[in-house]
Amino acid sequence: MSTENLTYADQTTTDGGTKIWRGKLTFIMAAAGSAVGLGNLWKFPYIAGENGGGAFVLVYLACILLFGIPLMMAEIGIGRSTRHNAVDAFGTLAGKAGANPLWKGIGGLAVTTSYLILSFYIVVAGWCLYYFWITANGTFTATTTVDTAFTGGTFESLLADPVTLITFSVIFLLITFAIISSGIEKGIEKAINWLMPSLMLMLAVLIGYSAANGNFEAAVNFLFNADFSKLSSEAIFIAIGHSFFTLSLASASIITYGAYMPAKSSITKTAFAVAGIDTLVALTAGLAIFPLVFQFGLEPGAGPGLMFISLPLIFSDMPYGQLFGSVFFFMLFIAALTSAISLMEPTVAWLERRFSLRRRTATFLTTLSLWVVSLGTVFSLNIWNSPVFFGKTFFDALDYVTANVFMSIGAIATAVFCGYVLKRPQLDAMFSTDPQAIPVFRFFIRYVVPAFVAVLVIAAL
Ligand code: TRP
Repeated sequence: MSTENLTYADQTTTDGGTKIWRGKLTFIMAAAGSAVGLGNLWKFPYIAGENGGGAFVLVYLACILLFGIPLMMAEIGIGRSTRHNAVDAFGTLAGKAGANPLWKGIGGLAVTTSYLILSFYIVVAGWCLYYFWITANGTFTATTTVDTAFTGGTFESLLADPVTLITFSVIFLLITFAIISSGIEKGIEKAINWLMPSLMLMLAVLIGYSAANGNFEAAVNFLFNADFSKLSSEAIFIAIGHSFFTLSLASASIITYGAYMPAKSSITKTAFAVAGIDTLVALTAGLAIFPLVFQFGLEPGAGPGLMFISLPLIFSDMPYGQLFGSVFFFMLFIAALTSAISLMEPTVAWLERRFSLRRRTATFLTTLSLWVVSLGTVFSLNIWNSPVFFGKTFFDALDYVTANVFMSIGAIATAVFCGYVLKRPQLDAMFSTDPQAIPVFRFFIRYVVPAFVAVLVIAAL
């Protein structure tokens, strides 16, 4: 055997034989790593803040349970029962069901969605890395008084500066490249085994810090006291849309990871575990951030700037703010990294098989082209800050089209595929580990999931 065979033997092979993760918990950790990301730590606190807190949180929890978990079970099943990338997974199952082979297109759409999301995700992840750097450097804890004008100005100058944006997004992209190109086991599994425990540890430290220094009671009231009079219909749509995004659904990540999941693990338990961890982290992030926000009398509904404008202001005034602020932004970076890994893997897995490429080559091509596409997002924040699509900038349009259009189509198509196209014996094979769950799963995937997406689509129109 040549050394080349040795090097690549433990990775996806081009004849469709796929590597399966060794660790029993790797799938749960990797999928939780995919799910837990900027969506939980950055977006969830501010959309909860903007939409009135408690009542919004309840609607969000209902969405995860009624619609997120069934869809996640479907995606894990599609991946695991075929052990293929998302395109070939749909293709194989459709073939066996005697359905139109064009169902493959849904897999293609999902891979495209993850690719496009990653192209702007790396830019925002670059902000986190940059903020880690400047916080650790003492930018917000220097002797000069730090006020909103200062932290707001810092954020604005970052967005206005393409060179810094590119530098930090490229550093982030290269780290993702290094992990993915090292393989499913030696790269992803190894990285996840380190990153996820570190992430949990940092979150625990921060919530302790926040409880010790902030107004914890006000935060608990804000997040868990449901005042339904504050709930708008728009808030409901935001909650449905966010439940797709936060669980990494309808975008090939979970299908692709499902292909690497051991055959004996229960799909139901796994889906509940992943959704549970994701929800817990979102709520914990709220409990780490809002006590400080209330302690300082700041606005909980400050929007996207909550993290990059309000928090640095708080850290500038807190005991050990430089240290804990750095930990906070480092945690954001790690959370973004585990999500980025899951956003890159679907394209790489597909390229490898479609063009019989080596993993390293497939990862290299993906990385290089992503960098080019990411420039669109970078420039739309400064020198190309003009509407290109329905009055939206390139960045906003990408975010909107992936999260609202592509993911809605992907979700409804996946539900129809599992609920109506696949034959019962195929479902039996998919859920061989949990046959008792099939009737309930079928009910949800046939009626409940399409109903949710229909509400979302009608609302969007
Ligand atoms: N779920 C992650 C977050 O909350 C982001 C993410 C990872 C994602 N993979 C995805 C979003 C696939 C949509 C689709 O930040």
